[in-house]
Amino acid sequence: MTLLPPVDLRCESLPEPVGLDTPKPRFSWAPESSGRGAAPGGYVLLVSSAAELCQSEVGDCWDSGLVAADRSSHVEYEGEPLRSCARYFWRVRWSDGQGGLSPWSEVASFVTGFLREKDWKPRWIGPKSVAEFHTRETILLGERGGELGQAHGIYLRKEFDLREKPVLALAFVSGVGHCEFRLNGLKVGDHVLDPGWTDYKKRALYSTYDITDLLGAKNAAGVILGNGRHVKNFGYEFPRLACRIELEYENGERKSFHADETWRTSAGPLRENSLYGGETYDARLEMPGWDEPGFDDSGWKKAVVVHGGPVAAQTMPPVRVCARLKPVSLRAAPEGAWIYDFGQNLSGWVRLKVEGPAGTEIRLRHAELLDEGGALNMGPTENAEATDVYILKGGGLETWEPRFTYHGFRYVELAGFPGTPSEGTLEAGFVHSDVERAGSFACSNDLINRIHHNVIWGQLSNLMSVPTDCPQRDERHGWLGDAHLAAEESVYNFDMSGFYAKFLEDIRLAQKEDGSLPDVVPPYIPRLYPADPAWSAAYAILTWQVYETYEDARILVRHYSHLKKYVEFLRRSAAGHIIKGLGKYGDWCPPGSIVPKKTPVEFTSTWYYYNDVLIVARIARVLGRNEDARGFDELAAAILSAFNQVFLKDDQYDAIRVSRIDTYPNQTSNALPLYLDMVPPEKKAKVLESLVRSVVRQQDGHVDTGIHGTRYILDVLTDNGQAEAAYRMTTHESYPGWGYMVKEGATTLWERWEKLGGFAMNSQNHIMLGSVDAWFYRTLAGLRPLEPGWKKFQVAPHLLGDLTSAEATLRTIRGRVRSAWKKEAGTLLLEVLVPVGATARILVPLPGPEAVIIESGKTLWRDMRAAEPVAGIAVAGRDGLRAVLEAASGEYRFKVVKSV
Ligand code: BGC
Repeated sequence: MTLLPPVDLRCESLPEPVGLDTPKPRFSWAPESSGRGAAPGGYVLLVSSAAELCQSEVGDCWDSGLVAADRSSHVEYEGEPLRSCARYFWRVRWSDGQGGLSPWSEVASFVTGFLREKDWKPRWIGPKSVAEFHTRETILLGERGGELGQAHGIYLRKEFDLREKPVLALAFVSGVGHCEFRLNGLKVGDHVLDPGWTDYKKRALYSTYDITDLLGAKNAAGVILGNGRHVKNFGYEFPRLACRIELEYENGERKSFHADETWRTSAGPLRENSLYGGETYDARLEMPGWDEPGFDDSGWKKAVVVHGGPVAAQTMPPVRVCARLKPVSLRAAPEGAWIYDFGQNLSGWVRLKVEGPAGTEIRLRHAELLDEGGALNMGPTENAEATDVYILKGGGLETWEPRFTYHGFRYVELAGFPGTPSEGTLEAGFVHSDVERAGSFACSNDLINRIHHNVIWGQLSNLMSVPTDCPQRDERHGWLGDAHLAAEESVYNFDMSGFYAKFLEDIRLAQKEDGSLPDVVPPYIPRLYPADPAWSAAYAILTWQVYETYEDARILVRHYSHLKKYVEFLRRSAAGHIIKGLGKYGDWCPPGSIVPKKTPVEFTSTWYYYNDVLIVARIARVLGRNEDARGFDELAAAILSAFNQVFLKDDQYDAIRVSRIDTYPNQTSNALPLYLDMVPPEKKAKVLESLVRSVVRQQDGHVDTGIHGTRYILDVLTDNGQAEAAYRMTTHESYPGWGYMVKEGATTLWERWEKLGGFAMNSQNHIMLGSVDAWFYRTLAGLRPLEPGWKKFQVAPHLLGDLTSAEATLRTIRGRVRSAWKKEAGTLLLEVLVPVGATARILVPLPGPEAVIIESGKTLWRDMRAAEPVAGIAVAGRDGLRAVLEAASGEYRFKVVKSV
């Protein structure tokens, strides 16, 4: 076996991080090898102050030497103290602990931001006064707001000369609500809607840019500021800027300057800019050269220092325009307007290309749906005007796209266009947090592939530096319920480590002294304290999800005491261990309703309370807080007993009479206790039977669950021998179900099971029912983690219904994991990939007791037991009609035949 150089190098989970503010960053890599059974036994890690040093194997900052350890992730920096605002280079090699040492990896690099809080106490600047504008937006259903408190786009500039070229120049920029940073006439970097949303009183995020190659002898920095969330409505004043530039010269000398009163400010072509309302840009007001040296800014005003909070590094993936889409059709609409269909619902905006006389005003309205007459249906958009306006300057081709707004749309109405537009006039930009794709899934059932597609687009549309509920109406908030319900799906599909680390920090900072959390984080709607426990459960669930997926123990340490405090808050709020007063939404949006019809909110509140306590107990154990853990065990037992006393009636949970004739069992209330194994053993079969009766008989294979029941019901059915029923739920095309949405033309997931289009809560792009996608990975491809960080995982494909193949590949912190099966001419082929340092428990489905499994040309299994030995595999036994194998790292191709 040959040890190959490690790949996929990450520092703090990012490939090339900039602006790290952790004094001890952590390194991860995926060791590779050519054979089976490899596992890491050690590593040598070098961190150098220059690329050439690292290349020539000199770790002047840290040379770890050969460290014996069976790990390849989250190795903490232990070298010389790192400096703020510097670039470092690193590489690694791994050993198998038995004398084998791999070649070196490539050299990777990272850039530090401000490692200690005192290194940058930002000074904020802005204009003395701003032009305000009105919108008719609300911030939450039924509430008027947003009438005032938004400013026209603010332009800021500053020129500076350099006597010699620095070897390193870094810019740290935080402009809140949103900013665009420009240097010498060019936009720096490709972030949009930067920085990510936070509670600005607690922290604003700064982005770090390496601007070394952009600087000359004479320079001009320019910044455009937009409102974003930094508006009066959400408790903040007008936009403001904190910016600092750090220079390092050849001789080691360092210089730094920051935005202050010597910067100048003005209004400009960007007028109204509102997240919900849209943008107005009057190109006639452009100021050519404003962001270049030599511009006459005598008409501009001096900036003033304004108050503002602390800053922290933005180390999660930024929001970007991640894809561009061409329209699939264009047609004329009444009154000289045109309607574009992009064929896909998405979050973002359009780029306009136009030529015409100065002063021509173009309006772009965005909607998810059309009405029956083919006009835009603005119903789901509710109070968000979703309208961008561009006013031409004239004199040639003009290309424009907005900066400080975004829309949820599939259709765009173009009005005021001079002449006849073409398909090339508009191009849609798909805008979201640019999380890396981690998983892929496909199977032989096209409907499932369509559902998977809708989940991916729905999930990405709802990653806008926080996990949002929807991208189209006047909400787009970090609703915690929506966030945790989609968490498992999202970690299968994307690398969420950086994104969730940031969001968990937002949650931590939103916690009140009494331990309570809000429904929405960042807490832009202050009245939403305390949360429905089924929403604030996100704190524990996401913390554990991050740990389980990425084996990130630091996240547990960071949040443990706050989670404890939250559980204490729940404990104080409960009466007899049942949570009565806190529930608000419960099993939200079941078929036919917004509010839960059958499941009482006390039920969901208390179930999540129990779940929180179980998770916090688990975390306590990982952290070695065994006494705490025992305390939580006791609390959990008390909640469990109260829960069963109150909600378990005869042989089902909480049947609520919904009609006079029928008291059919409630799917959610039976599924949730089964999921957490809360049902007394003697009642389990009955409860399961009640659930199955509802699913199979009363609902004819359909869900009758709101968002919480939906999240867990498929796993419960699968884990209790009812996988075919779960499969049917996901694959029929009748109401209610995911297939129904597809049949009705959905390209993302809806908020409601119903097909609705009026002015009401019926977003076409919510992700809270997206958990179904995790079930595709877990059950159809059969991949699920058994130990944190996929150190051990299960491959248990389910060959359900009409499926003839399914495959999924994941990038885990240990490397690539894969399960791919296909039925072919009476045989089953199963491919499994186990990364170095991991092991897999493989459950191979057998067509019958005579089945034979062949691997590497050898008969591994015959007569329901192990036959010939095969490298890397141990036969562990059987589980019904499945062979149970334990596989070491490597690639496997199993061929299962009925008999020989
Ligand atoms: C949001 C949801 C959210 C809910 C709370 C809605 O307005 O869009 O997705 O979880 O409120 O019940």
